[in-house]
Amino acid sequence: MFKEETISLFRTIPTPFYYYDMELLAATLSECSKEAEKYGYLLHYALKANSNPEILAMISSTGYGADCVSGNEIKAALTNGFNPGRIMFSGVGKSDDEITLALQLRIQSINVESRQEMEVINALAGAMGLTADISLRIIPNVDARTHRYITTGLEENKFGILPWDFDEVLEKLKTLGNLRLKGLHFHIGSQITDLDVFKSLCHRVNDINGWFMTNQVFPEIINVGGGLGIDYRDPDRNGIPDFSSYFRIFSDFIELQGNQQLHFEPGRALVGQCGSLITKVLFVKKGISTRFAIVDAGMNDLIRPALYQSYHRIENLTSGEKPEKYDVVGPICESSDCFGKAVTLPLTNRGDLLAIRSVGAYGQTMASRYNLRDLAKAFYSSPTRS
Ligand code: LLP
Repeated sequence: MFKEETISLFRTIPTPFYYYDMELLAATLSECSKEAEKYGYLLHYALKANSNPEILAMISSTGYGADCVSGNEIKAALTNGFNPGRIMFSGVGKSDDEITLALQLRIQSINVESRQEMEVINALAGAMGLTADISLRIIPNVDARTHRYITTGLEENKFGILPWDFDEVLEKLKTLGNLRLKGLHFHIGSQITDLDVFKSLCHRVNDINGWFMTNQVFPEIINVGGGLGIDYRDPDRNGIPDFSSYFRIFSDFIELQGNQQLHFEPGRALVGQCGSLITKVLFVKKGISTRFAIVDAGMNDLIRPALYQSYHRIENLTSGEKPEKYDVVGPICESSDCFGKAVTLPLTNRGDLLAIRSVGAYGQTMASRYNLRDLAKAFYSSPTRS
């Protein structure tokens, strides 16, 4: 829902552009922190969802740690105010340079995804005369019941270490003197809207945590990843996800031992709803049975509908006339460059402004220069720093 003065401002900005509602972001961050603090849980923001510097600055200043998946994300976290002691580094394919950077910075934990990676980190840490703090990324085999491209916790996925390899992993760890095991890490997928999935995750984590305990290993950190979904259908009604129910599930079902800390890595739930992609209608064209609204944003600015067939709400901000159905499509030479089929919009004309909603997560960060298009710029409802 945009105010008249915001829409007037939009008319003066070259399209397409990302627009971030920083007040909504601030409110979301504080709601999430408030609910997590009730149980003493720690939060690490997953930078891959949105690494825009203004957004990172606001998140770091609200006290979040960072979950990074590349050397450049670690650098962006540092530049934008995150404390190295609260940075986690995950990823199934870390390069030697990235591991070295993480070791130099003494980040909180490198989340290791295979035995071979353990050996490489041990060797690099040894060469630097350091002991590396690591966590084991574990495949819990819990079905996230979400799109298969963003499911990561199943046995057939490439992520993490399988339970039947635990014995060998522990044997190997005993021989690697430059590693210190700090924690266990789990992340089962993204855009999870069925909260029962997290209940199943808790049960698996309890079993696995118990196995390590009986084998005389006491991980300090249990990290259950991110994954909480947002309401793409009704972003105005559900602008802030239900963090209260989410954390309550963990409080009810997870069994922490001693003074184990529980960590979370939310991405989408924090930044998804604060972003919109504002685009202008270039042409309206009638096909045989379809009316196309051809806009100046393309799948290079927002790839989610093309890649995951995902739904984003689309609104016409400058017309209030009788509704019609449109396929809202971009200018790129691919039929998948379509933001929505048979979308009901008020009568739409060349020059109208459309808002594609809920693009704050995995919108700008997944943008590309395909067709040699310029990267769209970002604008903010209020500056976060002068
Ligand atoms: N932690 C790890 C280890 C992850 O791999 C991810 C996301 C997160 C945390 C944050 O998950 P979130 O809270 O945002 O669900 N591009 C896809 C989403 C890919 C998610 C990848 N991993 C999309 O547009 O839906």
